[in-house]
Amino acid sequence: MPADHVPTEDPRSTSVHPPRANGVTTTLPERRRLGTRRPVRVAVIGAGNWGPNLARSFADDAASGLVVVADLEAERLARLQRDLPGVRITTDYTTLFDMTLDAVAIATPPHTHFAIATAALEQGLNCLVETPLTTSVRDARALVALARARDRRLMVGHTVEFTPAVVEMRRMIQDGELGEVYFIDAVRTNLGHYQLGTDALWDLAPHDVSTANFLLDDQPVRVTAQAGSYVMRGVNDLVYLHLEYPSGALVSIRVSWIDPDKTRRTTVVGNEKMLVYDELEQLEKLRLYDRGVAAPPGYNAEEGELACTYRYGDITIPHIPWEEPLRLETRHFVEAVAAGADPRSDGTSGLRVVEVLEAAERSLALGRGVDIEEIRSDADDRGPTL
Ligand SMILES: NC(=O)c1ccc[n+]([C@@H]2O[C@H](COP(=O)([O-])OP(=O)(O)OC[C@H]3O[C@@H](n4cnc5c(N)ncnc54)[C@H](O)[C@@H]3O)[C@@H](O)[C@H]2O)c1
Repeated sequence: MPADHVPTEDPRSTSVHPPRANGVTTTLPERRRLGTRRPVRVAVIGAGNWGPNLARSFADDAASGLVVVADLEAERLARLQRDLPGVRITTDYTTLFDMTLDAVAIATPPHTHFAIATAALEQGLNCLVETPLTTSVRDARALVALARARDRRLMVGHTVEFTPAVVEMRRMIQDGELGEVYFIDAVRTNLGHYQLGTDALWDLAPHDVSTANFLLDDQPVRVTAQAGSYVMRGVNDLVYLHLEYPSGALVSIRVSWIDPDKTRRTTVVGNEKMLVYDELEQLEKLRLYDRGVAAPPGYNAEEGELACTYRYGDITIPHIPWEEPLRLETRHFVEAVAAGADPRSDGTSGLRVVEVLEAAERSLALGRGVDIEEIRSDADDRGPTL
């Protein structure tokens, strides 16, 4: 592990290495970063597994000042304060609203995001909300609308989008290096960890759905899901998702809390080249395969032998300089707040992910594929249209 690696290990987390100049702006322009501005004053709400990583990331960045951390559990706060001695702590997040802050980062369980983010935005604070943004499309739309109305930044912690290898994959795909993308296959498994009030769909799939949207620069039009509930009745610990994109690309995602292996692998197959990204590889996370297969010209599948042409070209391992994705994400948020600019993984991109998760829930309930449009028009009847 590189010496400067911040330990963000979590069954769901992503930690990788980024290039900088690759088509996607990793940070807002440097001159906006520090300048003569005072540090952006940040609070973190939630000091469970993930919140302390956010807290350390803000505390280590000269552009932000980590002022306070809130959690219901005093013991967790005391532990965090031992690591970050200067930081204030509170068991009541509403007390943050009297502390002249600029922003909050919310790392509480998903079902609490909506209420906490609403309260923070109403107090005029910018919000970084951990993924998933909310647990319903209606709530996600309401948050996006509230952030717009208050002219505050709303960003979602789609850490994968700040992962350098994934940013490089996106560049390759968008530059056409793979040709036409046929499909993407993503696997995110581990043994656990089981948590109350969520399941493998809402806990793990947001990372892969946001990655697919990011790589393809699009959103799916149709979602089909199948799930298994093995350890606890009603809790889906294994979920298969199939997403259909307007280009015709298929994205297949398997997420599981009940698997012998920890796996974090994404395969992209194009008609010219193929990519395999393995987040758990220490050095060679990304492999570009110059491989393909072509049907013979004028073939007819009904008649005769199918003499396909197989191409076995080089396998390239791009050198991607290492940088901590979470650090890039929190820095980007701080810069967006300081500049009053829209962040990359904004509320709308979080909403698009929640639409897919809600469509998956409906697909599981009805046993059929569900058009995203169906989810959107139902939500139109209940709240703001976005
Ligand atoms: N971006 C990533 O890679 C990544 C990785 C892990 C988790 N996450 C996300 O981070 C969020 C938190 O996950 P976690 O694993 O840390 O959960 P967790 O259950 O370990 O921690 C949640 C913490 O929130 C606290 N909390 C709950 N309600 C609160 C309230 N009203 N006020 C203050 N504190 C409150 C709990 O006491 C707990 O300490 C989830 O949305 C999860 O999906 C993101």
